[in-house]
Amino acid sequence: MILATTPDPEDLDPFREEGETPFEAPDDSVFDAPAADGDEDDDEALRRDAGVVESSRASRHWWDRNADEYQDEHGEFLGDARFTWCPEGLDEADARLLGEVAGRDVLEIGAGAAQCSRWLAARGARPVALDISHRQLQHSLRIDQARGADPVAVVQADAAVLPFADGSFDLACSAYGAVPFSADTAALMREVHRVLRPGGRWVFSVTHPIRWAFPDEPGVEGLTATASYFDRTPYVEQDDEGRATYVEHHRTVGDRVRELVGAGFRLLDLIEPEWPAGLDQEWGGWSPLRGRLFPGTAIFVAERG
Ligand SMILES: C[S@@+](CC[C@H](N)C(=O)[O-])C[C@H]1O[C@@H](n2cnc3c(N)ncnc32)[C@H](O)[C@@H]1O
Repeated sequence: MILATTPDPEDLDPFREEGETPFEAPDDSVFDAPAADGDEDDDEALRRDAGVVESSRASRHWWDRNADEYQDEHGEFLGDARFTWCPEGLDEADARLLGEVAGRDVLEIGAGAAQCSRWLAARGARPVALDISHRQLQHSLRIDQARGADPVAVVQADAAVLPFADGSFDLACSAYGAVPFSADTAALMREVHRVLRPGGRWVFSVTHPIRWAFPDEPGVEGLTATASYFDRTPYVEQDDEGRATYVEHHRTVGDRVRELVGAGFRLLDLIEPEWPAGLDQEWGGWSPLRGRLFPGTAIFVAERG
């Protein structure tokens, strides 16, 4: 069930430039259409500014183009109905960072194929899985269809502008979704605060900020700091016309704390999962080699005041 897609492709992309081909949503309700081709291999990677609109637009197109590959590559690790916070494999089943979930309205932000929401639903929660990418949400429907289960409720929207009334949810969570990709995460935190009920938890995982000082490589080349931890300039990939095709934003640990507190949250915990013995599986720049030396993930546990 897609709750909030707009059928007119013109409206699907408010950032579409004049003359540009609109993103085409597949006609059929679930999954037959191939994803749009991507030719990002030639894109240039650099550090430069990228604002709210450019970042959002890049994320949406990048994840639509790359959702198939992402699910193909990581789907087995993620599991169809597993709630894992990070490449270190910390599961909500063990960590219980959200507290009691049964009977709670839960918003999953940047849900991808909604694996976490499926875990939540199996434990009696009422999850809504939100993502900016239509293709990612199609994967959610694909998984539900294959399992013959009731579909997870999904919403296509940008996390910076949540299409929900104030106080709609008891809990909000995000496993590497939206926060690393949004230019104005102070505003995003305020949006999450707005849609949560008093006392509601907001738990999200992101790349550990210290990783921004190191090359994003799983091997020894990823062990030597080459950039300033304090440099907040976004990481951008851009096409040959200078249009961003992929954007990630960096905040220091202190920035994140200030964003949360500024939005009205109390920080309850900051988890830095250690690399578990026996986990050999790499995920991009996350590897056993680096994971044993310094953290790859930060999980912020906050409560709405
Ligand atoms: C690294 S994936 C994580 C997906 C899922 N949480 C998981 O663990 O597999 C990041 C997700 O965030 C989504 N995303 C990126 N920017 C977003 C935004 N501004 N609003 C909502 N979702 C966004 C992407 O479409 C993508 O599905």
